Amino acid sequence: MDIVVLLGPPGAGKGTLAEIIRDKTGYEHVATGDMLRDAVHRGTETGKKAEGYMKSGELVPDSVMAKLVEDRLDSGSGSGRYLFDGYPRTEHQAELLEKSVAERGGQISRVFLLEASRETLISRLTGRRICRKCGRNYHVVNRPPRREGICDECGGELYQRPDDKKKTIENRLDVYDEQTKGLVSRYESQGKLERVNSDQDADTAADKIVESMNRMGILRDTE
Ligand code: AP5
Repeated sequence: MDIVVLLGPPGAGKGTLAEIIRDKTGYEHVATGDMLRDAVHRGTETGKKAEGYMKSGELVPDSVMAKLVEDRLDSGSGSGRYLFDGYPRTEHQAELLEKSVAERGGQISRVFLLEASRETLISRLTGRRICRKCGRNYHVVNRPPRREGICDECGGELYQRPDDKKKTIENRLDVYDEQTKGLVSRYESQGKLERVNSDQDADTAADKIVESMNRMGILRDTE
């Protein structure tokens, strides 16, 4: 089992880059935010526990997250290659993940830290729109749909995530600084961290990550 982690603040482009990298490498995209939104939508026990935290931009408790991630690792397609987006976000989550991966005979091979200015992050998040039907991401200025409010791909309705309101965004960025940023030094000291400027075109940033994965040799059997 091999895990590559995309680390970075809300709006850094974790989800956008993960989709491009998944298509180029075959790594499975594991996005804990998407998994939680799906659980809320379906009204599951996990969704009920998570909803309040998500609405206010706080982190969902580690115990809930660890169970969600363990279940996901055990129900993958069998490729054993995962691109994590949004997990881990606390020291405790990082410890739990390292333990789970080791128990399955795997490793975390690389952690890419996506960096962009706070101004860029806020503008990306306030302008983000998502298709209700197929989940495709848009931005009202950077990546507008051809027809306002309608998905180019499937004609679905575009909506704004409830936590993409200015006040909640500010809180999410503060929560990142307080609870997640500390992971940078953890992975730096393990020699696994690589910084990527995400204040550039998404395809260019994703290509840099794929090139690095290639250089490490972890893509060899996926080609
Ligand atoms: P989650 O869904 O993971 O949200 P997030 O971390 O706040 O990240 P975002 O999805 O907002 O940003 P992103 O970095 O993926 O950027 P994106 O590619 O979408 O988590 C939501 C909530 O769930 C959390 O607040 C928490 O409550 C809970 N949760 C999740 N994981 C948890 C965990 N491990 N522990 C506890 N709680 C957890 O891009 C954003 C916008 O910018 C888009 O419009 C996109 O089109 C645009 N864009 C992206 N890249 C570029 C680029 N290079 N150039 C121009 N535009 C770009």
